[in-house]
Amino acid sequence: MQSEQSSNPINKDIVFIQITDTHLMDHPDAEFVGIKPEENFHAIMNDIQQRYPNIDLLLHTGDLAQAAVPATYHRYLAYMQKFAVDFYHIPGNHDDLEIFPFHTPAPHPTVIEVGQWRIVLLNSVIAGQTDGWIATEQLQHLKHILEQQQDKYVVLACHHHPFDMQSAWLDQHKLKNAEAFKAILAPFKNIKMVLHGHVHQESLNEWNGIQFISTPATCVQFKPLSQDFAFDAIAPGYRCLHLKNNGEFDTIVHRLDHFKVTINEEISGY
Ligand SMILES: [Fe+2]
Repeated sequence: MQSEQSSNPINKDIVFIQITDTHLMDHPDAEFVGIKPEENFHAIMNDIQQRYPNIDLLLHTGDLAQAAVPATYHRYLAYMQKFAVDFYHIPGNHDDLEIFPFHTPAPHPTVIEVGQWRIVLLNSVIAGQTDGWIATEQLQHLKHILEQQQDKYVVLACHHHPFDMQSAWLDQHKLKNAEAFKAILAPFKNIKMVLHGHVHQESLNEWNGIQFISTPATCVQFKPLSQDFAFDAIAPGYRCLHLKNNGEFDTIVHRLDHFKVTINEEISGY
């Protein structure tokens, strides 16, 4: 099993930040649907630093790049390395798997060890497709990891949404083999949550004692429960999770205060 160590003193809550869907361009000033994704992302990181000066780890759940070229990834990594925080990332459908800075070679999930918790990072992207699929070989590795981690509390993360968002256009692009994924998870009672991005909105579903949780994008937001593509005129955000040593957790979404939404409403798809 591949694993990465993250230091954390015993008996301390783990402060875990999720950001998602930065959709960064190849140049920091470049626009995407009428906004500058880089500005939004930096504003989010500033807010995180102010609210949470002592983060144990930060996870980006994909669509790191809109312009998926090496310069975009290099700039992201250089920016994040300035923070004294362990940071991880998984790809989204807008990322390029050929150049994405994976932590662990495919098809192995990355396993982050932090206190009593194990955070398992999955790739749900198939090159050239908008919808999601977790490869069978990766699911087999996941099963093996879960068998080995039954005395720990587990968080899983992938980009695509396993549950319908009741939004027809978005649900075409969900995790298409969610049933096979859930079949792997079903026997394990120590899996606490599945974190994902992709839907550019906050959501919560519960299945088999597992919370399936999505988080607002750092760029534009999608309107919940909309049958057709639609932006939501609310501020970008991120999620903080406090993971406790007894397996409990609490979580809160923060959105930027005083944020002026400037999306280009003329755009009918993205
Ligand atoms: Fe996205």
